[in-house]
Amino acid sequence: MSDVMIEARDLTKHYGTVAALQNATFRVNRGEVVGFLGPNGAGKTTTMKILTCFIAPSGGTARVAGADIFEDPIAVRRAIGYLPENTPLYTEMLVLEYLEFAGKMRGLRGSELQAGLRKVVEETSLGDVVGKSIGELSKGFRQRVGLAQALIHEPPVLILDEPMSGLDPNQAAEIRELIREIGRERTVILSTHNLAEVQVTCSRVLIISEGRLVADDTPDDLAARAGKPRFVVTLRKDDHSAADVRAVFSSVGNAQTVTEVAASSAGELIVEVVPKGNDDLRADIFRAAVSADLVLLGLEQRGENLEDIFRQLTTKAGA
Ligand SMILES: Nc1ncnc2c1ncn2[C@@H]1O[C@H](COP(=O)(O)OP(=O)(O)OP(=O)(O)O)[C@@H](O)[C@H]1O
Ligand SMILES: [Mg+2]
Repeated sequence: MSDVMIEARDLTKHYGTVAALQNATFRVNRGEVVGFLGPNGAGKTTTMKILTCFIAPSGGTARVAGADIFEDPIAVRRAIGYLPENTPLYTEMLVLEYLEFAGKMRGLRGSELQAGLRKVVEETSLGDVVGKSIGELSKGFRQRVGLAQALIHEPPVLILDEPMSGLDPNQAAEIRELIREIGRERTVILSTHNLAEVQVTCSRVLIISEGRLVADDTPDDLAARAGKPRFVVTLRKDDHSAADVRAVFSSVGNAQTVTEVAASSAGELIVEVVPKGNDDLRADIFRAAVSADLVLLGLEQRGENLEDIFRQLTTKAGA
């Protein structure tokens, strides 16, 4: 089997006139723990429901563990353990009863079912509460039960919709640790709103905004992007075109991108210069402006943090 465990191609979903997901294309390789990050309504749950064959996309397709969601949904479901956003746990049921029920739903019987139960109870450290009713459990323990039911048929792929939401920091840390353990042998996609969360849990982050994927990066690279300075240069417009100005600054130092920012007032031209590394380009920008006969009205260095990056990527103003 290839190392691509999930491959989504041009996934699109419309609910009436609402475009919940638009042309989402991404891959997840075996062994990766990928964070699906985005604000409310971005399309995270929609994507997960499509991958788990709970809903059909309006366009595009996906393969999970080599099986196509349209051609072989049974194989897709078999390959996936799913923790839905609002886990429908039966509060009157005992933990063990519920897990038995979940195992049977997955087609396990007899000794296979018993072995599966023992394995997931141990994996999720539920041993002390198997005889309790689910309603008695703390939210953190309920989430463990949710994870246990997702793992019962030993799926190679886990899809977890906001597994840490609503947990206090201690419980969240325990669940995070558990996901890391589980993720050692499996491919995991988890969704969250929480930036800090993906940094500690995920090897890669897909950022989704208004139904579109806007970033696919490692947390470290995102953080590096966040730590990067950028320089906002305000010039007197005179007879210079934006293209000329961009050309002047793109040869400065090791500038990576030079983009024009809408002018704040008539007669001004504002460009943003982003360096490849973390170099302070202010002196170079000044010299380049002088030698190109540009009148420098302002030069400002701005830093960005991870939150800025997230907001830029997920708000219209930053798009
Ligand atoms: N069954 C549905 N009928 C109509 N619209 C829906 C339905 N499900 C989702 N939507 C809409 O699709 C968009 C994406 O919703 P989705 O639940 O995928 O977002 P999400 O990223 O999971 O958000 P959250 O972080 O709040 O869970 C939203 O605009 C939502 O209102
Ligand atoms: Mg959701």
